[in-house]
Amino acid sequence: VHVALEGDLVDAFRRQAAFSEAKAPLYRRICGIIADDPTLVDLLHAAPAEQRLPVLLLGVIHDLLLGDPTVPLAAYYPNLTPSPRSEGLEHVFRAFCYDHIDAIQMLLATRRTQTNEVGRSSLFLPALGVLAGEVGTLAHLDVGASAGLNLQLERFHYEYQPGGEVGSDSAVELHCGTRGDVPIPSVMPQFAGHLGLDINPIDVSDEAETRWLMACVWPDQPERFHRLQAAILLARQFPHRVIKGDAVDDLATTIDQLPQSGHPVVTNSWVLNYLPVQSQRRYLAELDRVGAGRDLSWIYVEAPVLIPGIATQLDDFPNEEPSVLTMVRWRGGRRSARRLATCHPHGVWMHWN
Ligand SMILES: C[S@@+](CC[C@H](N)C(=O)[O-])C[C@H]1O[C@@H](n2cnc3c(N)ncnc32)[C@H](O)[C@@H]1O
Repeated sequence: VHVALEGDLVDAFRRQAAFSEAKAPLYRRICGIIADDPTLVDLLHAAPAEQRLPVLLLGVIHDLLLGDPTVPLAAYYPNLTPSPRSEGLEHVFRAFCYDHIDAIQMLLATRRTQTNEVGRSSLFLPALGVLAGEVGTLAHLDVGASAGLNLQLERFHYEYQPGGEVGSDSAVELHCGTRGDVPIPSVMPQFAGHLGLDINPIDVSDEAETRWLMACVWPDQPERFHRLQAAILLARQFPHRVIKGDAVDDLATTIDQLPQSGHPVVTNSWVLNYLPVQSQRRYLAELDRVGAGRDLSWIYVEAPVLIPGIATQLDDFPNEEPSVLTMVRWRGGRRSARRLATCHPHGVWMHWN
């Protein structure tokens, strides 16, 4: 069994290397080095069976480098140095791993890959602008908020290309390519407040937790890494609460905690795919229950093919694979849904319907 598992893991690293070919040259090389060294492949056995993914080991090694960016291996990481080295990677990488086997295994046993992608705020903003034009001040709840970084959306600077800029100067600059008639707001929507809900929130004031979030970003994407770092600093400066709780069971009570002076709007991005189909149905049912009693809006960025419990009930939206931005409104107890745009999962581009 052990040999078979190891064979599978070697294949997994080779597949990861092939997948990384174009956009992540450092990770392509590192995955090749690991695949050729049975001791390094074997490290992944320190992780629980369902977590034995190449990206987990890559994240753990990255996390240790972020903890000590003076080690020789850091000189190869494009996010840690302006002129990364290339020669001699294999020797330096293997030496680092062999020197840190205990630390690597300890992290592998306890960590799960985590993300919080602020680029998705570029997708939410036009929809929130349309909504604010209709209802005025908003009270915002982001479900599956992770570290709550998208709760900072009114503090980011946005550049839509074509389309123009929104927001004042910010350490977090988002760029989004547009197609179609994206209704880019001329002013930032007004918010009465922001709240997050997550089953496993990341505390932005905790160094180890945020370092791990940064370690899960690929070093071959330095811009994304630095943007995340800037967003974490912003969230420390202007903290918003992320309540620990379940997307379904705690949804209605969390909506109740939003300030009454704003129209309640729930957002979620790349969260519902983690819920079993039955829970996806219950999520929509909870929103319906709240929306039956008061006006409510819901804006989401999800891949329809992964959320049959939602999409099939809303209407006949196609079961698409790319992310889709959708707005659902409850007005006077009646629900209506509108598919607004197809988009890149991290908000790199959006194509308005
Ligand atoms: C891929 S991350 C996306 C985070 C954030 N929405 C974003 O777009 O950057 C998914 C998040 O959903 C959260 N999550 C998963 N299942 C959940 C549940 N049942 N209730 C609440 N949050 C959940 C995870 O903890 C994680 O933070």
